[in-house]
Amino acid sequence: MTEVSRAAELLRAGELVAFPTETVYGLGADASNPRAVARIFAAKGRPADHPLIVHLPDAAHLPRWAVDIPETAHKLAAAFWPGPLTLILKRHPSVSDAITGGQDTVGLRVPNHPLALQLLCEFDGGVAAPSANRFGHVSPTTAAHVREELGSAVALILDGGPCAVGIESTILDLSGTQARILRPGMLDADAIAGILGAPPIVGGSQDAPRVSGSLEAHYAPRTPLRLATTDKLGELVRIALQAGKSVAVLSTAAPPLTHECLNWCRAATDATQFAHDLYARLREFDASGCDLILVATPPDDLRWSAVADRLKRAAAGSN
Ligand code: TXA
Ligand code: MG
Repeated sequence: MTEVSRAAELLRAGELVAFPTETVYGLGADASNPRAVARIFAAKGRPADHPLIVHLPDAAHLPRWAVDIPETAHKLAAAFWPGPLTLILKRHPSVSDAITGGQDTVGLRVPNHPLALQLLCEFDGGVAAPSANRFGHVSPTTAAHVREELGSAVALILDGGPCAVGIESTILDLSGTQARILRPGMLDADAIAGILGAPPIVGGSQDAPRVSGSLEAHYAPRTPLRLATTDKLGELVRIALQAGKSVAVLSTAAPPLTHECLNWCRAATDATQFAHDLYARLREFDASGCDLILVATPPDDLRWSAVADRLKRAAAGSN
């Protein structure tokens, strides 16, 4: 039996299976089995009312999970699936409250990773999968990250190498009158507007569905993380070193000084590469045992909006 076949069998038996996607690793369970889904919440330490994304083998599965599917959903699926886009649609009555957090909508996506697609095709159903990390922590982008963080809680971890995108999917809510981005991702508002013919609203509203990724504090390393403009970085490093702290820095700029307690990491100048590297860097900094992580504020530019969003929440979550 192949490893993917074994993984599909474990899912059918109600076990948890971690698998790679193009964004981050997911912690998967049979989405139609509420007891299996409950194990996800237990393993992650996640509040029970936070809804989960259901992963599908292809867009043809949509009608099993959603009703009143707008034409725009079919167009977006045709354009971007498999890919890093989650669509929020009106839930099918058969979808359990364990998945939706009791809301009348459901999050659905077809991930673009060969192992994930093989698993989903073989399982031939929906796989509920949040990022395979403890609640609030940095998402995993390698199988080793999952093993370190959740190893004992999962029956099997499929290793598909490092994730290509590196941060979580764009979440687009199509359940209301206007399309709304609830969580920015590397598939940006311009790309979505190109298919919709109009720009989506960006950001949640008062009555928008709950998204744990929209919590002010999320995606956080264990070490305190602060954002600083490039011109202030050097000064903040000096102050921290003088206070006897060891400091890690993530910046596209060259280090202004060297010091045994300074780990200055040159970041990619390109948003796509920066996103790809981000969570692995944050985990490395945590593992190094430094006292403070300083990250240079990313450019104020649409291409950097998803990275800026994650860094802002990481800073809030680590303090
Ligand atoms: O890239 C991704 O989306 C990854 C991979 C594994 O697919 N998954 C992921 O899952 O990031 P998670 O659970 O860490 O974040 C999913 C987000 C949560 O913030 C959740 O609240 C939101 O999706 N979500 C799920 N269903 C929803 C719904 N019906 N309405 C609003 N938000 C929803
Ligand atoms: Mg997550």
